Amino acid sequence: MTTPWTLRLAERRDVGELMFIEESQFPEPWTKRILLDELANTETRRYTVAVEEKRIVGYLGVMFVLDELHINTIGTVPHEEGRGIATSLLDDAWVDAQVRGLKRATLEVAVSNARAIALYQRYGFHPVGVRKNYYERIQEDALVLWADLPMNAADSPPTLD
Ligand SMILES: CC(C)(COP(=O)(O)OP(=O)(O)OC[C@H]1O[C@@H](n2cnc3c(N)ncnc32)[C@H](O)[C@@H]1OP(=O)(O)O)[C@@H](O)C(=O)NCCC(=O)NCCS
Repeated sequence: MTTPWTLRLAERRDVGELMFIEESQFPEPWTKRILLDELANTETRRYTVAVEEKRIVGYLGVMFVLDELHINTIGTVPHEEGRGIATSLLDDAWVDAQVRGLKRATLEVAVSNARAIALYQRYGFHPVGVRKNYYERIQEDALVLWADLPMNAADSPPTLD
């Protein structure tokens, strides 16, 4: 599918726009320091951005732990939600994970975040546990979700083009 945005790896210069997404979309936003550290750690992290008309409209950060993919963060700019931006970022991460031979994916999500949970369910994520008060500031529990990654490209979600 052709989209009006393109995906690329995130760079240090993106940090201001990523901070905007963090601060407008997350109750416990990451600091600039955390984001810069994440972006610098290219061995175990992969951060991608969706860019439309030179503006970042969404981003995804994943971490590799042994043969597991951990979704660290995903956010779409407010008013750009519901266009498939997060879906295209996840599709790309899924393809990359297969190339790396990863077997499973995991993440934490606030129990009340129905929209994100519905998105993750489309990728085969299912709940395996609860982390009590994981989000301390908002005093909310996190669901721990797991998914088996497709073993070959034929099982993967459609790619962008
Ligand atoms: C959760 C989040 C990342 C989803 O991003 P998004 O870009 O809106 O996601 P998508 O557009 O790919 O999919 C979301 C919905 O849009 C729908 N959609 C996808 N493409 C579409 C299109 N072309 N036209 C209309 N709707 C579309 C999807 O079917 C999906 O439907 P749903 O609302 O029933 O789930 C975003 O809402 C967000 O940033 N939330 C705040 C941060 C957050 O909670 N992150 C997750 C933390 S674990």
